[in-house]
Amino acid sequence: MEQKRIGVIGGDGIGPEVVAEAIKVLKTAAGSDAFAFTQLPWSAEHYLQTGVTIADGEFDRWRENFDAIFLGALGDPRIPDMRHGRDILLGARMELDLFINLRPVKLLHDSLTPLKGRHPGDIEYVIFRENTEGLYVGMGGQLRKGTKHEVATSAMIATYRGTERIVRAAFDHAVQHGLSRVCLAIKHNAIPHAHGLWNRVFQQVRAEYPNIESSQLYADVAAMELVRDPTRFDVLVTSNLLGDILSDLAAQTVGGLGIAPSGNIHPGQVSLFEPVHGSAPDIAGQGKANPLAAILTGAMMARHLGYGDDADRIETAVQQVIDNGETTPDLGGTSSTMGAGDAVCRRL
Ligand code: IPM
Ligand code: MG
Repeated sequence: MEQKRIGVIGGDGIGPEVVAEAIKVLKTAAGSDAFAFTQLPWSAEHYLQTGVTIADGEFDRWRENFDAIFLGALGDPRIPDMRHGRDILLGARMELDLFINLRPVKLLHDSLTPLKGRHPGDIEYVIFRENTEGLYVGMGGQLRKGTKHEVATSAMIATYRGTERIVRAAFDHAVQHGLSRVCLAIKHNAIPHAHGLWNRVFQQVRAEYPNIESSQLYADVAAMELVRDPTRFDVLVTSNLLGDILSDLAAQTVGGLGIAPSGNIHPGQVSLFEPVHGSAPDIAGQGKANPLAAILTGAMMARHLGYGDDADRIETAVQQVIDNGETTPDLGGTSSTMGAGDAVCRRL
């Protein structure tokens, strides 16, 4: 197979450490020639030193030079407004039109869930979070800023095209992976215009997939159901902000952000893969960070690029490492970041 070109943004805090483990695991699984990794400098440190969050034209260069981007984490206490994070991560999502934020939720071991009596197999679904619209488009403004009469607005955007493509992607994923159920989570009871459109689009698209059992829940009810009975979900499709919140809740039901992977995807185009967790500056550089989210994110990226067998093997190896307690302390083990990465490589 042709070598795949990966742009790597270690980013801030624990980002570079966990990315290093993920790269090590990818090389062990697929061989050192499968992927060519190019380090990219975009980070808080780079911004503080140069004043540039991300260079002009950078996203176009990614389109030309890379098959995927692998991002560690962004966030630094020296940049409280997260300007660089918005420019880089939200910039990439918008500029590269990465409309699918795919967040798998899978319980790998009994000990990882706070939900009573749930076992691996009980919690296994994917969230399709719309990733380019909703409340994340940055439209809005302020009036009388800084006074007690201030008014602030942030507009929620839903377009027919943007809604249709994410809903369809969710149904197509179900068909391709032999999953039988797709559930929509929105709030059209409270947000009749934007989410009314979601509701109508969902009704229209579901009619084209008669073999898929489709359902809808108000997003607040969906939050309850993810806790009460996660077995009822295969594919959950939702809007941008709701997906942001529901995916953190969902991640916590299977062990937390330390093992939650994600992909920001536009099928057929350069896509960006990142662990859901943040930069955890308090533990950066101490070998305490859990690399499994980044490693599972690497597997997702490998699968996306056609290395499905290697992705499966990485996931199995991670599963074995968890079964054997060779994890970092956040999951109950005593391994360091590097030790956990090495353990995955040994299993491979
Ligand atoms: C995520 C994060 C981002 C988001 C932040 C860092 C802007 O929480 O990827 O879920 O809200 O999308
Ligand atoms: Mg989030």
